[in-house]
Amino acid sequence: MNAKITATAHNTPKNIMTNHDLEKIVDTSDEWIRSRTGIEKRHIVSEDEASSDISTRIALSLLKEKNILADEIDLIIVGTVTPDHYTPSTAALVQKNIGATNAWGFDLSAACSGFLYGLETGANFISTGKYEKIMVIGVDTMTSILDFKDRDTCVIFGDGGGGVILEPTTKESGIIDSILHMDGSGGDYLIVPGGGSRIPATIKSVNERKHYIKQDGKTVYKYAVKGMADVSEKILSKNNLSGDDIALFIPHQANKRIIDAAAERCGIVEDKVLINIDKYGNTTAGTIPIALNEAVNENRINDGDLILLAAFGAGFTWGSILIRWESI
Ligand code: COA
Repeated sequence: MNAKITATAHNTPKNIMTNHDLEKIVDTSDEWIRSRTGIEKRHIVSEDEASSDISTRIALSLLKEKNILADEIDLIIVGTVTPDHYTPSTAALVQKNIGATNAWGFDLSAACSGFLYGLETGANFISTGKYEKIMVIGVDTMTSILDFKDRDTCVIFGDGGGGVILEPTTKESGIIDSILHMDGSGGDYLIVPGGGSRIPATIKSVNERKHYIKQDGKTVYKYAVKGMADVSEKILSKNNLSGDDIALFIPHQANKRIIDAAAERCGIVEDKVLINIDKYGNTTAGTIPIALNEAVNENRINDGDLILLAAFGAGFTWGSILIRWESI
């Protein structure tokens, strides 16, 4: 039994931070950020907003879109590296906020691959035949771990997320293939060193800014291009497809240059590549479901279309998922 996507939604906080706003905070420029990353602005949370607030809005939109009640949801999976708390999970907060009285759920930590890991996990629960309606959300409040004194990181991330409802299909459609990878030896290149059990939060660790995300941008860039391109090529050849067969490529939005390089390697032409990094920056687990919902709203996806998703992120984690779209 395959899993198909029967509803999509996304949500981003109201506040917008432009590159020009960042120029006033760190030594950077609109020109540098645009030319090196493709980003023009990003949405950021207000002081009283966290990942569960964004996720709850996404979950409510999904219920509305499907016109179902919350108690019909069996399972809630939230891909995030910026949960409101270590515990309870963001999934538990969403369950409470929407009143999903018959659901269980959990958070899943795979950074920028969080939504793809979540989709794979949800699809496998559907394939057991035991679950009928699963919510998969990818969300991140990156500003909660951003050091606005570190121009290597603070210019590239934003806040937001999106989600889907998965349901079974008896057709040869929906999520038809997936390849996921992990290589923990890349862990130190993109890391939040403090605040966990290795370096628990102390006045010293906070003063040393260890609770912020750090990256070796050049190394991450190199692995991201290779990881996303290799895995996308692999899933195409495994399914006897070429880039021409893909109706829409929805890659993780980390850097426009990474996306362009991966699309070129796979032979996917520019107008079949969804790029919205200019508006949102890198929202980590949020990028792919935000882009997917925009594509659906803009009627860029039709019944029977082959959609390729690909991501690369901290861990390292990466992967691709192939969907044959089945209109509801
Ligand atoms: N504003 C202005 N200048 C900056 C800057 C900023 N925010 N950050 C770096 N620079 C400067 C550097 O100091 C360097 O100056 P120099 O040439 O005088 O030494 C120059 O710009 C080039 O820096 P470099 O680090 O080589 O830039 P880059 O082309 O590699 O781009 C990233 C930097 C971070 C945009 C790029 O490496 C990247 O996207 N990496 C992947 C990051 C990522 O995707 N992380 C999330 C993973 S999912």
